[in-house]
This record gives sequence, C-alpha cells and structure tokens, in this order.
Amino acid sequence: MSVRETEDAYLVPSYTKLPLTVVRGEDVWVYDEKGEKYLDLYSGHAVCGIGHSHPKLVKAISEQAGKLIFFSNAVYNDTRAEAAKLLIESAYPGSKSVFFVNSGTEANEVALKIARRATGRPRVIAMENGFHGRTIGSLSATGNQKLRDDFPENLSNLTDFVPIGDFDTLEALMGEDVAAIILEPITSVGGVRIASRKYYDSLRELCLGYGTALIFDEVQTGFGRTGEMFAGMHWGLEPDITTSAKGAAGGFPLGCVILNEAIASAPAPGEHGCTFGGGPLAMAALKANLEILKEQKLVENAREMEIVVRDVLGAIPEILAITGKGLLLGLELECPAKPIVQGLLSRKIIVGGCDRPSMIRLLPPLTVREEHIRMLADALVEALAVAKQGA
Ligand SMILES: Cc1ncc(COP(=O)(O)O)c(C=O)c1O
Repeated sequence: MSVRETEDAYLVPSYTKLPLTVVRGEDVWVYDEKGEKYLDLYSGHAVCGIGHSHPKLVKAISEQAGKLIFFSNAVYNDTRAEAAKLLIESAYPGSKSVFFVNSGTEANEVALKIARRATGRPRVIAMENGFHGRTIGSLSATGNQKLRDDFPENLSNLTDFVPIGDFDTLEALMGEDVAAIILEPITSVGGVRIASRKYYDSLRELCLGYGTALIFDEVQTGFGRTGEMFAGMHWGLEPDITTSAKGAAGGFPLGCVILNEAIASAPAPGEHGCTFGGGPLAMAALKANLEILKEQKLVENAREMEIVVRDVLGAIPEILAITGKGLLLGLELECPAKPIVQGLLSRKIIVGGCDRPSMIRLLPPLTVREEHIRMLADALVEALAVAKQGA
C-alpha cells in the first residue's frame, strides 16, 4: 500500500487533505516522496514560523531528548524555568506568568475557564467569524454556527456573537455578567479581517470598565506572525489573557496561556493541570524558537515582506484586496479561491484557503524572501489566467 492508501485505511477520516505526501522540510521548502520540492507559503498550517526543521531547533530538541525527555510539573526543571522567563520577557509588558498546554484549543479552554473563575461570571462575548478550536469550550466561542450546531451540547447559550469591528453592537450586549470578550486580534480561519485602531482601544476600555477579561486568541497571530511579537503590540494595548500555540515552538506541540498581573492569581493551586504541558522537549523548542526569532530578526522580516507582498501581488488586477498584517495576509480574489489554490499546488506552491470562498491565505515561514514572493506572483498570474479561460 502507498503512504496515502495506508493513511486513508488507518486514520479517522477527519481531514480534507491535499494530494501531497510530505516527507522532509527545510526552511521554506518541503519535499515529497519522490524528492520534488514545494514552496510552502502556509508554514504547515501557520506553524513553522522559523522555517522547516531549523538546525538550531533540531539541535535543541535532540540535546534535550538526550538529557531528559519528560517529567511532569510535579518537579522543577531548568529548561522550563529558562523558557518561561524568556517567553514572559518577550510577551506584553504587563505579562506576569504562563500556563503551558499542548494546543490552541486547549489554551482557549484554559483561558475561558480562568476568566470565569476570576470574575465569577458566566457569559462570554465572541466574534461572528472568530475561530478558537474544536473542543467543547473553545467551540462554544467559535463563530462558525454550523460547527457549533453539529454539537449542540456546547456552551454557546452563554455566548453572544458580534461582528468584529462593530463596537456599538458589542457595547449594547455588555453587562456585569460578562466574564470575557475573546477575539483573534486579526481573524484568520474565518477570513483575514482587522478592525480599526479605535475599535481595539474602545474594547480595552470597555473591558476595564466592566471588570471583564479581554482574551486575545493569538494562536495564529502570536510569535511574530503579524510583524510584532504579539498582535496587540501594533496598537500599543494588551489583553488580560493571551493564548498562543501554532508558531510557539517551531512545530513542536505547545500551547501557552499568558496572564497579566491583574488575573495571574485567579487560578488557585490545583484548580487546573496538564500532564504534558511544559514538558522539557516543548520547553527546549520554545526557547530555541524565541532565540531564532530574535537572532534572525524574523519579526522585522515579517514586516518587510508584507510590504513586498503588497507591492508585488497588489499589481495583479484579479487580486481585489490584500487584508491582514505582516505575514498573515488574505488575498481577496475576483474569482473562487479553491481552483487557484489547486492551480498553485500543481505549480508546486502551497497556500491556504479559508471560510471566505474568494480568499487565499498566505502564512509563509517568517524566513520568506522577495524571490519566493515573486515566484508566487508568477504562478498566481498563470493560475488566474487558466481559471479565467475555464470560466
Ligand atoms: C485562532 C485559532 N485559535 C485556535 C485554534 C485551534 O488550535 P489547535 O488546532 O492547535 O487546537 C486555531 C487553529 O487553527 C486558530 O487558528
């Protein structure tokens, strides 16, 4: 049996997969089983921000594996201590402490639980096109109604959904019973959207006024993706709780829940736990990831490459708009995105789609350079022309 036949036979059929087998990766490139190389402008789902299999990350994980693969949070560990300190120093200035988990949805579960515990309130306000994960708590705050309706036992009866950027509707729903407002500061899965600076400022003020926790889900936007270490830094404001995952450890599973001073004492000892959270391998990967982002100035590169993308791709007439920030960018097309994503794949370039049918998502490794963006532009022009002929 081929790799594809074997996976199809033995794995739960949960995912719609690209017709591609990836066996190796290096920087912005991944290779299939025949050694053919593909330009990955999707970072394996917004994860490998430092590029695939970065040598420093490989070394850090290998050395840690040789020293200690695992011991739980029942003991202290040198690598965990160093990684946690480095993370808090790189996060929002008001950040006080971090709780480590293993994924994005788990981070949001914990954040919502802590916000409810800290405020003693039940309700949550979330965004209509927000995405926070697929476990029951995170699903309850995920905007996509179809996903929630498939599992009606979720807590969305305690959640109000509002369009991102619409402050008046949000303010009208606010009350003394709202534990948290949760949002991706720049939405991604539901379509790449960003609100005005005034909106984020007003949101911060509103939460302070009501004693409501502001949760930024930075599972995608964290760790330099948008051209700042965390997205709220673009507007000089900070949430009470930051969740992050994907780009946190260069591809090693890791989720983080970062608490600011005001909320840090809310979870009482013993109230929450996570066996694998903060395991030494994940911590070695987090530390190496943070060091690489700094040494290679990758957050700065994300800012510079956004300008290149806007210059080079903005000149293509079939691209109606480019939304987002840094290297979390949506290309709004005048035609459906799906055939273009497929057309790019047949030209050996990987990009993403999203819930918005006419949008392509670019989430390349933060190591991407102008030559790669020009390769994308050439392939896009070809794929768009083929789609036009077929229309
Ligand atoms: C903004 C956001 N939050 C949460 C999640 C869930 O993360 P995970 O798949 O690691 O559970 C995702 C995944 O795409 C996401 O984009």
